[in-house]
Amino acid sequence: MTAQEIRQRFLDFFESKGHKIVASSPIVSKNDPTLLFTNAGMNQFKDFFLGNKVPEFRRIADTQKCLRVSGKHNDLEEVGRDGYHHTMFEMLGNWSFGNYFKAEAIAWAWELLTKEYGLDPDRIYVSVFQGDESENLAPDDEARELWKKWLPEDRILPFSKKDNFWEMGDTGPCGPCSEIHVDLRPESQRSSRDARELVNIGDPLVVEIWNLVFIQFNRRADGKLEELPEKHVDTGMGFERLTMALQAKNSSYETDIFQPYIRFIEQVSGKKYTNSYAPDAMSDIAMRVLCDHIRAVSFAIADGQLPSNTGAGYVIRRILRRAVRYYYSFLDLREPFLFRLIPLLADAFAHVFPELKAQTGLVASVIQGRSNPSSTPSKTACDAWKAFRRPKA
Ligand code: ALA
Repeated sequence: MTAQEIRQRFLDFFESKGHKIVASSPIVSKNDPTLLFTNAGMNQFKDFFLGNKVPEFRRIADTQKCLRVSGKHNDLEEVGRDGYHHTMFEMLGNWSFGNYFKAEAIAWAWELLTKEYGLDPDRIYVSVFQGDESENLAPDDEARELWKKWLPEDRILPFSKKDNFWEMGDTGPCGPCSEIHVDLRPESQRSSRDARELVNIGDPLVVEIWNLVFIQFNRRADGKLEELPEKHVDTGMGFERLTMALQAKNSSYETDIFQPYIRFIEQVSGKKYTNSYAPDAMSDIAMRVLCDHIRAVSFAIADGQLPSNTGAGYVIRRILRRAVRYYYSFLDLREPFLFRLIPLLADAFAHVFPELKAQTGLVASVIQGRSNPSSTPSKTACDAWKAFRRPKA
């Protein structure tokens, strides 16, 4: 299955279950002062969860452009170093606003993954919320019982609030969640170590692909949880990770989503991509960084956020500068380069997020204008890397 087919099948599946398919909201968060960028599919539906607005449709599904580079959800540091983190990614989601709840969300997730997509059920592990005394939250026994219909009990794993209580930010709708993880390791590795030990510890081939959140609370500004009048479902599946699983690759950069950019970068730089994750595989790391960052920067500009010196614009500027430093330092490219990837990107997304194709000229000229490596300070990219690190909490 191509990536395009995988995306379409998700939407068709949920349409067949009575969901209205809607467009992605912009990647730049325009109406929510608590966010700079859209960090999850549910952002555009926040008011439906909180009961501030009544939705026209009680069941919705879409693919949402997300950017996780600031605030509570920030993956910038991981990008390039491994094969499954991205700044910009697509989140496939289905939502119920006070309509169906855990039973349907779990049954449909299982049906889609194992019947429609044909993922091997033996490679699937799920996590459920184990409860939290400090917040007076009970373990999610209901989700555990529902999963037992499909999975042996020893593949239903309890995890704490850190992994299994999802919140969009410091405030807002939230609730216990159940994540679906897949074991993509070759058989030889599978027999030597049980995947149950590898869930949620950052193994590159035992990865979370789908998060089913059962929204029941609002986190208030004073930190307290307040029960919502209705119960909702908010799911998010990482499209790039799903594609990696279905195309049986060891990295999302090996899928047909990213390969065209890697091939183009190889051609222009004259360097070969080797799919290496060694910490010193700098040209491979640089190619992955470029493939990722061009998407983040292009979609942000297409949605109205130019690079600048403050706020969201500053974050975009930093991502762009980071990409420039990587190609300058590790691919020996001395001319503005990133903008040359934009036609490939615009064509790949023409039928999903047409706003990029519609503004190719503007996006390319902004990126070209801000990408002159000769204006790059003579620091090494390693210094740059450190400068951009998030301070550890
Ligand atoms: N909102 C949930 C997430 O982003 C689905 O993981």
